[in-house]
Amino acid sequence: MAEDLSIHKGTKEEQYVGLIPQIKGLITGEDNQIANLANVAAALKEQFNFFWVGFYLVAGEQLVLGPFQGPVACTRINYGRGVCGTAWKESKTIVVPNVDEFPGHIACSSLSKSEIVIPIYQQDSIVGILDVDSAELNAFDEIDEKYLTEIVSLLS
Ligand code: SME
Repeated sequence: MAEDLSIHKGTKEEQYVGLIPQIKGLITGEDNQIANLANVAAALKEQFNFFWVGFYLVAGEQLVLGPFQGPVACTRINYGRGVCGTAWKESKTIVVPNVDEFPGHIACSSLSKSEIVIPIYQQDSIVGILDVDSAELNAFDEIDEKYLTEIVSLLS
């Protein structure tokens, strides 16, 4: 397994297309979920320099902070709370162009301005979520949704 990430330049789509085979290489053959989540968070941070990128994992009625890259974050999020808890409750990806306009948004950092949250499924139930935050408004679109969903599916 190569342990250096090759950073791709170009459009956002080209960057995802360059990154995904490398993520496959990083996680193939490794069955430890924490190790894989940690490397996926690191790879996304290296390629895109997102403000915050990481995982929350389902633990009973809460999401608990998992591997991430970025500033320290809230440790636990209740079911149905914030963007992450809402994505879990509603079993859907949520793109938030402006976090100040999302009712109940949990501000782990006041510098975060927009966000995308994608559920992770195992055998049809949600086991966690991928959360990506940007310090800019409107940072995420259907390209992020498409490729981040593909990345998350590799973890299922
Ligand atoms: N903003 C999230 C909380 C997690 S942090 O952004 C890392 C939310 O509203 O669920």
